[in-house]
Amino acid sequence: MKGLIFEDEKTVRNVLKRILQKESIEVLDFESGENATETIKRERPELIFLDIGLKNSNGFDILRYTNGMEDRPYVVIISGHSEHRYLIEAMKLGAYDYITKPFDIEKIKSVVNEIKQSLRLKIVSSVPKEEVIGNSQSMKEVFKLVGRAGASKEPVLITGESGTGKEIIANLIHRFSDRSDKPFIPINMAAIPIGLVESELFGYEKGAFTGADKAKEGKFLQANNGTLFLDEIGEMPLEAQAKLLRAIQEMEIVPIGGRKPIKVDVRIIAATNKDLIKLVAEGKFREDLFYRISVFEIHLPTLKERKEDIPELVNLFTKQALSQLGLKSGGFTPESIKFLTNYSFPGNVRELKNLVFKLITTYRDRPITPDLLPVNIKGEEEKNFDWKKGLEIEVRKLLTRKRKNIYIKLIEDAEYILIKEAIKHTEGNITEAAKLLGLHRNTISRKIKELEIVLKVEEI
Ligand SMILES: Nc1ncnc2c1ncn2[C@@H]1O[C@H](COP(=O)(O)OP(=O)(O)OP(=O)(O)O)[C@@H](O)[C@H]1O
Ligand SMILES: [Mg+2]
Repeated sequence: MKGLIFEDEKTVRNVLKRILQKESIEVLDFESGENATETIKRERPELIFLDIGLKNSNGFDILRYTNGMEDRPYVVIISGHSEHRYLIEAMKLGAYDYITKPFDIEKIKSVVNEIKQSLRLKIVSSVPKEEVIGNSQSMKEVFKLVGRAGASKEPVLITGESGTGKEIIANLIHRFSDRSDKPFIPINMAAIPIGLVESELFGYEKGAFTGADKAKEGKFLQANNGTLFLDEIGEMPLEAQAKLLRAIQEMEIVPIGGRKPIKVDVRIIAATNKDLIKLVAEGKFREDLFYRISVFEIHLPTLKERKEDIPELVNLFTKQALSQLGLKSGGFTPESIKFLTNYSFPGNVRELKNLVFKLITTYRDRPITPDLLPVNIKGEEEKNFDWKKGLEIEVRKLLTRKRKNIYIKLIEDAEYILIKEAIKHTEGNITEAAKLLGLHRNTISRKIKELEIVLKVEEI
């Protein structure tokens, strides 16, 4: 791993250098930002410590440059300014963290460690089968927590609305932990009949009850040395909750009908889309269990809160759907992606994924233009819009304002819209557009000139 330091204060520079070297990072340090972009381009570092107030150069420009790089490094800003606007500006430009001088050495160490973990995560998440997207600030925060949780053995509670990616994040924590080569065993509490929860979790001995003609290993034992993912934990019956708490605290289980406890070593990750605190208040969830499993809590933002991730998610799911169907081309036009980005996705990432798969399956390699999108995505206003009403309002407005030549103006506006939309529809074929409108080819050409209709290529 390679790190660069741009910092004009010698003492600060040396401290940073020593910390990085201790972390086995190869370091180059510079006292000015002169030629910084060339240096970065040449050295391709994974990490940069950047002083914003460098002499003769603007740290923000350097940051802006790294932000545009394909393999952009993690940039930690070191600054003498503690004002919010600097911090916000730096974060907006993609800085990983912002540390003000004088700084705490521990803080630097912990940032370096986080970055190291994120780098490992990047490698993990680029495994094609389970790629996890998230460039939005809120998902970056999630990834930081995933990194921290991966390094610890404590239970993790993942909360978030349905379809926000709780299971994929649970899996990521496992893959990122030192148990990644051991089993990851998911169990969905909502999918198991209440009476079977305990035998599913802890297993049973032969003869434990009528019908138990041979012993069964529970999920705890299957997950031994690995991770047990308790999905929809809010649905767990109270009695089983008591046994689960004991199993987590003692790290031992007793199969139904068994007498001897069995030692286990299992990392617990739980997930829920319920408000567990509310369930605790209602007496439906044990308070002690809640505290035990929520040592580490990761809350997943809704898709609406991180719209900027939508285009990349669409690309990923498109790629997956095309390859599943054995197609080489196909996908959404930029205009369609705009519509998707503006839609609120109450079903979050799951809804987006289902939609992409459904559309690609239906239209295969045909480019998916906005007219192929479901009406709810194109917006309610388009569905219910009453243009005559709109025209009435406009006419009244112009009349009250005592505008001149209202008739001519509105007719011209209407002609403009008619012709422009027709040409867009025929992808620039004017003869075809004239035919559709019921105009003579010469008339439409004249109107295009008179009304100064200009169509940009990307509009067609
Ligand atoms: N950040 C992401 N990057 C790529 N794919 C994602 C991401 N988040 C979710 N997905 C995909 O979206 C789908 C839903 O995610 P997941 O099953 O993890 O959600 P969930 O929160 O467990 O939902 P539910 O509450 O409905 O069980 C999955 O197919 C998952 O692979
Ligand atoms: Mg789930």
